[in-house]
Parts: sequence; C-alpha cells; structure tokens
Amino acid sequence: MSIPVQQGAAVDVTRIRHPYFQSLVTDAATAVASIGDGDTVAISGFASAGTPKAFAPALAERIREVRAGGGRLSVNLLTGASVASEAESLLAEVDGVALRMPYQSEPTARRKINDGRMDYVDIHLSHVAQQVWEGYYGDVDVAVVEVAAITDDGKLVPSMSVGNNKTWLEVADKVILEVNSWVPLGVEGMHDVYYGTALPPQRRPIMLTRPEDRIGQCYLEVDPSKVIAVVPTDQQDSESSLTAPDEVSRAIAGHVVEFFRHEVACGRMPAKGLLPLQAGIGNVANAVLAGLEESPLTDLTCYSEVIQDSMLRLIREGKVAHASATSLALSSAGLTELVDNIDLYREHITLRPQEISNHPEIVRRLGIIGMNGMLEADLYGNVNSTHVGGTRIMNGIGGSGDFTRNGYVSMFLSPSTAKGGAVSAIVPMVPHVDHTEHDVQVIVTEHGLADLRGLSPRRRAPLIVDRCADPAFRPLLHDYLDRANARPDAGNTPHILEEAFSFHTRLAATGTMLE
Ligand code: COA
Repeated sequence: MSIPVQQGAAVDVTRIRHPYFQSLVTDAATAVASIGDGDTVAISGFASAGTPKAFAPALAERIREVRAGGGRLSVNLLTGASVASEAESLLAEVDGVALRMPYQSEPTARRKINDGRMDYVDIHLSHVAQQVWEGYYGDVDVAVVEVAAITDDGKLVPSMSVGNNKTWLEVADKVILEVNSWVPLGVEGMHDVYYGTALPPQRRPIMLTRPEDRIGQCYLEVDPSKVIAVVPTDQQDSESSLTAPDEVSRAIAGHVVEFFRHEVACGRMPAKGLLPLQAGIGNVANAVLAGLEESPLTDLTCYSEVIQDSMLRLIREGKVAHASATSLALSSAGLTELVDNIDLYREHITLRPQEISNHPEIVRRLGIIGMNGMLEADLYGNVNSTHVGGTRIMNGIGGSGDFTRNGYVSMFLSPSTAKGGAVSAIVPMVPHVDHTEHDVQVIVTEHGLADLRGLSPRRRAPLIVDRCADPAFRPLLHDYLDRANARPDAGNTPHILEEAFSFHTRLAATGTMLE
C-alpha cells in the first residue's frame, strides 16, 4: 500500500490517492518552517474534533528554537471554535499566540487572555468566515487543515469537523494538509460543504429547508499550487470531557421536556418531530439531550453546532431521525461508538461548514429550539455567557448568539448556583451582556423554568426569582426588587443602579468569582 517518497516518509495511498499530493508528503517540522513571526495561521478544528495533530507540537518546538536563538516568533491564530486543548495549551504555554479568534475554552489560553498577554476577539461563530473575507484580520498566510483523505482527483475528504475549513482553504496563501489515518474512511459522504456563500450584494437564498437537506458536496476543494506540505498523522481526536448527568442536570432536563410537552399541547410545536433542536456544548446540554431518551418524543431532528455523546444514543435508539452539525465532539466512549458504527451514523448525521450550521437565515427558517448554557442571568432576562464578574473571560460567545437571536424558542439552562453554592446564577443585573432580554425567552435551572415570552420586565423579574433562583438567594433578590420597584424613578425596568453589582462585588471580595 505504501510507496516511498523523497523525504523518506511513507505514503498511504488509500489516504493520499493523488500522485501530486503524494509528492508533497513531509514531516510537521519541515512544514511549519515556512511560518514566520506575525503570520496569521488559520487551522482546522472545532471543539475536540478535527484539530491538526502534528501542527501545534511542531510549531511550539520551532518557537522555542527561534527564541533560544534570540529571534521572535508568534502568530495570530484563527480557528473554527475551540480546538483540542493539548494544541491550545502547547501554543499558549510558549506565548506563541499574539491574537486568538473566535473562541477558546482552555485554561492556559484563558489565563493569558485575562492577564492581557494574548489578544482575544470573541465573535459569533457564524460571522467568522464573512469577517475574514472582509479582511478584518488581514491576510491569512497559512492554513493548516486536517483531512481524512485526498481523493484521486485532488479533492479533500473532511475529518471529524468542518468548521471554517472551506474558508481557510480559499483565503490562505499557503496550505498545509494533515492526513489523519485514524479518521475512519467511512466518514466519506457524511459532509455537505456548501460553496454558494458570497458577500453582499451577491448573496442568494440558501435553499436548505430541512436539517437533512444536502445542498453542497461531500468534499473540500483546494488549489494544489497553494499546498506546500502534506503531513501524514495517525492520532485519535482528543476526547471531549463529559461527566455523567447528575441530579441537577437531570432536573433541568426534566423541566425542558415538560416545557416541550406544554408547547405541543398549545399547538406551537408539532407532536411528531417537535422542531429542530440545538444544544450547546457541555454537561448540561448533554444531560438535556439524554433526558429526551426517556421522553415519549420521537422523529426528532437536530440542527446544531456540535454532536455530543447523547445525540449518538438518540440516533441509535431511533429517537432522532437526523442530526446536522459542524463537529463531532465526543468522549472516548462516544468516539469508539462512532468509529465502530460509522455506516449507521453517516446515514443520520450531516456535517456542514459553520457558516451554514449557524446561519441566521437557516436558524430562523427552520424554527430552531436553541438551548445554551450561561454563567448568569439577571432579573429581566439579560444573560452573561462569557465574562466572570463582568471582566474575566471564561470561554466566549461561540454559537450561542447565532441560535439565540434567530431561534424560534431561545432557552438558557444552568445550575442555579456555581462554586459550591457560593455564587447565584440569578443576579440583579448582569455585569456583561451577551444575550439581551429581547432575545432570551426561557430560563431554566434545577428549580424550575421561567417562560418570559409575552411578559413585561416587571412581570418577568419575580417569575425568574421564584422559578429559577436558589431558595437561599431569593430573599436577597426579592428585597432588591421590592426596593427597586418602590423608587419614584423605577421606570419600565426597575433597578437600583448604585447597588446592582453589589452581588458581584461582595462575592468577588471573597475570591469565589475568580476561578
Ligand atoms: N460565576 C462564576 N463562575 C461560574 C458561574 C458564575 N455565575 N457559572 C458557572 N461558572 C463556572 C463553573 O463553576 C465552572 O467552573 P469550573 O470549570 O472551574 O468548575 C464553569 O463556569 C462551567 O460551568 P458549568 O456549570 O460546568 O456549565 P457549562 O459547562 O454548561 O458551561 C458556560 C457554562 C456558560 C461556561 C458555557 O455554556 C459556555 O461557554 N457558553 C458560551 C458558549 C456557548 O454557549 N456555546 C454553545 C453554542 S452552540
């Protein structure tokens, strides 16, 4: 199966089927030698899936060598969303990233950002491709994209995520391809890469009307003249760490399922199939989907960003007919399940570029039920998803805004407290707003669900406290609310501005807010 090439590396011709690309096979150290100080490097990867495996170790090593020789080397790093935490931390540890965009969720990078040592641009994931095309980030010097295979006519079989890979391959001056033999060849056919997007005024409607619709092609395309290296790898995706649903997440899931029953009874959602579900990343979202396993709901569909373990179970049990996403962010057990049953999952899963998985036009048309996590919500339904204490970044807004603003029903799910009960997730006024009261429709904690639709701010506030706040914090919140309402200048959205952040100030003083 393998033929030798000039650089001495072996070529797997089942993976690299085109002779020209075979001739470009080399190792990662050689490939990254072309990256210079200040370059903008766009890499594949979305959540734990599809990050190039050899790139970050090789670049981190090169950065160390250049620095040891008295030189400078750091890059601007663009991705789909978060990438494998090993890659993120390796580059952050060597101070190799000057600017990061659009999302991260890794402790070392987070610390550098909060210490002011890494610039971070936190944007809606559906905006990334457009903003790069518009040139906000300058030229993209190098794209590094993991693929499952290169076909005999030079097309690329995407790996376990698509993210912004189409855009990276189009805009970059130079391209490095990593061909990962661990990715099952059975993924070929799972992807739907749409090549019809454009900047205004050339835009046309995107004719996707059901989550299972295929509007593009199974392959990514690349101009061969831009490809400077093909690096073979054979490494599993890093696993997404998930904890088993606990009492709190199960209670949240129960409220959500009950809400769906209510919506069906009111005729706002169809009994068969509901409406397409979007669930954010993390333990709570995973638990909510797991909660659907016991519900009577069937023929469900999903139009989301990531597919987590519970979605695989829903597909296997026949509860979910089709799931569309941009990434397969799975635990180790989930990866094994997927790889062992790739033919089944290829029939029921479509992976798309993130500009399509998160596209406002499609999210609005399909009537998505958006379910995302939050750090905290305030008395009127404004939500902070990103900044602890209003200043310190946690992860980023990710795709939550794409689905919240445009969804049919926009829900935020969270435990009612954080840090062992010391911090309330319901506060008088959020110190950073990611999702405004105009977009947030339903808030759910383990204590209950507040349906804010159709309610004025003065009606929303007591409902949020009584349904969602932890009982230990309710007296404090009601006291604030009573005094705010009693003020002569209370207005439409009563607040005591000079006091609104005292929750945060008091808790921050104890250190509990500061991770
Ligand atoms: N104040 C301080 N810290 C808080 C907090 C609060 N109000 N609420 C949560 N946290 C901390 C938790 O203590 C935990 O920290 P730890 O890891 O040190 O224990 C961390 O935030 C994660 O909280 P957790 O309760 O485990 O929830 P989660 O995994 O669902 O994450 C978000 C919650 C908000 C961080 C996460 O949903 C997120 O990053 N959202 C923005 C992006 C997004 O929605 N993406 C999906 C779109 S498809």
